[in-house]
Amino acid sequence: MKKDFISITDLSCEEYDDILTLAARLKRQRYAGVPHPLLAGKTLAMIFEKASTRTRISFDVGMYDLGGYALYLNSRDTQLGRGETIADTARVMSRYVHGAIMRTYKHETITEFAKYASIPVINALSDKEHPCQIMADSLTLKEKFGDLNGLRIAWIGDGNNVCNSLIMASVQTGMEIAVATPKGYEPDPAAIRFAQENGGKVVEYDDPKKAVADAHAIYTDTWISMGEEDIKDMKLKDFNGFCLDMPLLKRAAPDAIVLHCLPAHRGEEITDEVIDSMQSGVWDQAENRLHAQKAVLVRLMGQNL
Ligand code: CP
Ligand code: NVA
Repeated sequence: MKKDFISITDLSCEEYDDILTLAARLKRQRYAGVPHPLLAGKTLAMIFEKASTRTRISFDVGMYDLGGYALYLNSRDTQLGRGETIADTARVMSRYVHGAIMRTYKHETITEFAKYASIPVINALSDKEHPCQIMADSLTLKEKFGDLNGLRIAWIGDGNNVCNSLIMASVQTGMEIAVATPKGYEPDPAAIRFAQENGGKVVEYDDPKKAVADAHAIYTDTWISMGEEDIKDMKLKDFNGFCLDMPLLKRAAPDAIVLHCLPAHRGEEITDEVIDSMQSGVWDQAENRLHAQKAVLVRLMGQNL
């Protein structure tokens, strides 16, 4: 495997599959109370520029489950906040810890850190991608449908970081991603190009109704990503008609599941009725962050077990 997991494209098909298989095994072991200290003695630095509930807790608990130790570092409280360079911080941290996760505004902050770090670096969300989220979502879909290949996933709303990673994962998974966004909020063209040039399947619509037709899962996310608070009013207007509500959900297959990476902004991108419905897979999705990330940590920081 590559040293780092910064983009979903860092994984080959085989590595992607192997991580999902290991995640399922670690999930069974946790449920059965079987200890699995695969990262005993290992430490993980968790560097956050932005807020987090799921990512922070699941990595922290995941390291504990694996017999290791995680330390939370708010970048404002480290010398990064006073101007120490990313490169110097990466060099120093590599002398203390065995791996790092980073949640940053700019994707390039993570790639810069990884360039100077001798330890594995994991993207815990940037403006461009959220690859750990997509590993958890893939596990969730695999549990529900058995096989990812041939599934159609409708993405409704903002063509954001989560959407970009999902689109590029169509290469490893064989899933078709049907994206419906308002004009001007399309996914990163580089993500679409990557998928198209590497055998992935992505179809773009401006009408959510077309995207959800025949979908096995309908995925949405906030319209206002972290860092976009100042354009909230404009985006709320621009996304009118893109709410995942019951009439839209009813256009998908009856056994289609609803995905949302959370946190949800109920009443904006998704209604209470949909997120609380029997078709909602969002709590499994949130739980699977833990199992999928533990598998990523073991593969990047552990022995090959
Ligand atoms: N889905 C996700 O990354 O959630 P947090 O922002 O709470 O970590
Ligand atoms: N697109 C959202 C995802 C939050 C987990 C954001 O970047 O804020």
